[in-house]
Amino acid sequence: MRLDQYLARAVPCSRADAKKILRAGRVQLGGTVCRDAGAFVAQGDAVAMDGVLLTVQEHVYIMLDKPAGVVSASRDGRDVTVVDLVSRAYPRRSLFPAGRLDKDSTGFVLVTDDGILAHRLLAPRRHVPKTYRVRLDCPVTAVMAAGFAAGVTLADGQRLAPALLRAGPAPCEAEVVLTQGVYHQIKRMFGTFGAGVAELRRVAIGGLQLDEGLGPGGFRELGPGEVARMLGEGQ
Ligand code: URA
Repeated sequence: MRLDQYLARAVPCSRADAKKILRAGRVQLGGTVCRDAGAFVAQGDAVAMDGVLLTVQEHVYIMLDKPAGVVSASRDGRDVTVVDLVSRAYPRRSLFPAGRLDKDSTGFVLVTDDGILAHRLLAPRRHVPKTYRVRLDCPVTAVMAAGFAAGVTLADGQRLAPALLRAGPAPCEAEVVLTQGVYHQIKRMFGTFGAGVAELRRVAIGGLQLDEGLGPGGFRELGPGEVARMLGEGQ
């Protein structure tokens, strides 16, 4: 990474301000003053400003409690996106949602700038479970639970992987655990039983529960242990 880019991330500040800081001779690279914005910072190089060692976090992982009415996209000409909700706090990151919730669904969306982690989270062969709380327009039945466990065949003939359906706590409520991500999957699965989904909320990704204290639109950064829990590692 270029030194001005490193500074912009570590301080954080704009690239223009980083260049000013460099010109003022406030930055040391590897122990000597460096004024060159284009100097290359290699892994493990010590960068200090005003004698204080700087660090750069390569990627950010943000747990967002998506409110209803917000779309799971980076940018949208019409609707507010999950990235719009967090981007003011991360002006120099290229953020995107790792996975999608429908516009009317709520709950846990991971917003990140780490494409490799997003791929690991979403790759079908990794089977990272996603847990949802659902309220139906009718009671949950044992037939539905057995159908989910056997693997639902959607109206278009697509055969889905087995999923867990746990009824309760109220008669029309359930918890659903999916290991794949097909468009409108839960709504379509219940649709095959003639049931409509009135409310859908994602409450966990992998082994990491949504922090219910965040509230609609609330977000916070995840620590390394939480990222590992999400991926089902180190449990
Ligand atoms: N399944 C759906 O139908 N919608 C979602 O938002 C997530 C899973």
